Amino acid sequence: MHYIRLYTAVLAVLTAVHASSIPRPISCSSLLEVTVSSGVQVLTSVDVAAGALSVPSYSGGTILNSFPLCHLSGSIKYGADGLTLAANGANTLTWELYLPVTANYNGRFMVVGDSGYAGSIDTTTMMTEFNLGYAVAGSDGGHSLAETGNATYASFMTDVAQLKAWIHNSIAITTPTVRALATLYYAASPKYSYYYGCSTGGAQGYAVASLYPDLFDGIYAGSPGNWYSHLILSFLWNALHTQGNGSMSQDALNFITTKVLAACDALDGVNDNLIENPSECKFDITSLKCKSGQSATSSGTTVCLTAAQVKAAEAVYAGPKNTLTGKEIYPGFALGSEKAWLLQETTLYKEFSELILKEVVFNDSNYNISTFNFGSDVSKADSIASPLIDSINPSLSSFEARGGKLITTQGWADAYNAPTWPIEFLEQINAARLTDENSEFIQVYMVPGGGHCGPTSAYPHVPGTYDVLDSLVPWVEKGIVPTQMLSTGAIDGTNATRKLCPYPQNAKYVRGSIDDWTSYTCA
Ligand SMILES: *[C@@H]1O[C@H](CO)[C@@H](O)[C@H](O)[C@H]1NC(C)=O
Ligand SMILES: *[C@@H]1O[C@H](CO)[C@@H](O)[C@H](O)[C@H]1NC(C)=O
Ligand SMILES: *[C@@H]1O[C@H](CO)[C@@H](O)[C@H](O)[C@H]1NC(C)=O
Ligand SMILES: *[C@@H]1O[C@H](CO)[C@@H](O)[C@H](O)[C@H]1NC(C)=O
Ligand SMILES: *[C@@H]1O[C@H](CO)[C@@H](O)[C@H](O)[C@H]1NC(C)=O
Repeated sequence: MHYIRLYTAVLAVLTAVHASSIPRPISCSSLLEVTVSSGVQVLTSVDVAAGALSVPSYSGGTILNSFPLCHLSGSIKYGADGLTLAANGANTLTWELYLPVTANYNGRFMVVGDSGYAGSIDTTTMMTEFNLGYAVAGSDGGHSLAETGNATYASFMTDVAQLKAWIHNSIAITTPTVRALATLYYAASPKYSYYYGCSTGGAQGYAVASLYPDLFDGIYAGSPGNWYSHLILSFLWNALHTQGNGSMSQDALNFITTKVLAACDALDGVNDNLIENPSECKFDITSLKCKSGQSATSSGTTVCLTAAQVKAAEAVYAGPKNTLTGKEIYPGFALGSEKAWLLQETTLYKEFSELILKEVVFNDSNYNISTFNFGSDVSKADSIASPLIDSINPSLSSFEARGGKLITTQGWADAYNAPTWPIEFLEQINAARLTDENSEFIQVYMVPGGGHCGPTSAYPHVPGTYDVLDSLVPWVEKGIVPTQMLSTGAIDGTNATRKLCPYPQNAKYVRGSIDDWTSYTCA
């Protein structure tokens, strides 16, 4: 394993610096002088008072550090393989590390992942977890924002080392260095190590579980884009099927969701403007087709769907199919998710499918994505892009054998990712397991009305903050298999709480307020 070599090298140098036999904590400022390893630089080390470090919050405000910290930042040079550290490496990863002062440290170490094309450090998630007492690090994924580029060009994609670092390796490049620095600061190894990421960060989570199974005791991999090469084909499929007369306005999409909710909301016995399990909802979209001679809109409001819109919606629900083999390329979208489809119609294919097809799959900046052949070109994405950007090996036996635990959350109304992919991948993982099916090491929590990595404006009354660590930490540290997960923080400001259940269970109403998670049981 590459990272063992790398970690040993880092530790050897650190041990030499820290020669006394009984380790003693060292000051924040002296970490600046530590020579960590070839290729690694500590660039800043600052003691920060409580409330003196401000980062953006998820909702557009700011979050401050609740207690003092040692704030470190630095860089790591890595080589052409996208992994090996080298002082003369051509590529630079930047990282930050928040170390709570000892009195506020919970003994746990965490690395957070990236989103989208990375290029910047997710200080929002870092600060959120820091305030719980974790020593938290994050990286830019192995390339700078400048290399992440714009909607038409991303230079990191044409650099194979940076491309491999992005999803597969940047966490493994970062972790040994930052964990060694934390160990020096506290004069003790962290008791447990966690990884926390969503979206691209979810893909990075599955990559470390598969490629670097010894790095973390617990992994949170939310809304994982771990089949990236096909995720972008799903974006492209949805966009191409909703162009021209197939396009659906926001009003038309709202119309569909309203009708779907009217048909399926109460299936779980609770009228809450929400479908608990969309796979149990049988809704025939053709029932919304305009009668002959009827106009699709009346005074600007959608009253029915044109034949082309019905076909388009059917294509989005179905997901891309290989036109040669008929096989699924990626799953489709769920009933009740329609309100969020405008992103599929107008944006995602440009930002992701177009760039990756041009720069990675076809290596042709003039490639016309409308000509992508969903039969003969799929194998090209598989052979060229998949080995660089996917993490879809279902054999996680090394991670399982070392006692690792992994939790995925996935919103049923995610505007980006077709929601059933994490379920399909879970089934692949379980099929690949050699050990007792009854001993769990991975759980998927589906979120009714959940968006991409949190809340969606399509369901503002649905709590969008998932208490992942309250499930993952006791599982890792005490062997307590989680049976439920609390979610809070609805963006409409109401105080509803909800119960999320490990797949294949759903939250079943028992008694009491429908907005109180204790009124439900997982079954
Ligand atoms: C994107 O970046 C490339 C390379 O730097 C540049 O040539 C191009 O004009 C930029 N496009 C936009 C839309 O900014
Ligand atoms: C959509 O419009 C095209 C022409 O632009 C036409 O060929 C096609 O039949 C239309 N589709 C439907 C379902 O009406
Ligand atoms: C992509 O095309 C350029 C020429 O346009 C070539 O120099 C480069 O080697 C190609 N890259 C790959 C990975 O084939
Ligand atoms: C791209 O391909 C489509 C489908 O073949 C064609 O209609 C369109 O004109 C092409 N666009 C460009 C810019 O060549
Ligand atoms: C939520 O707020 C309502 C009204 O303010 C209150 O009656 C209810 O007890 C609260 N529920 C919870 C779970 O806090």
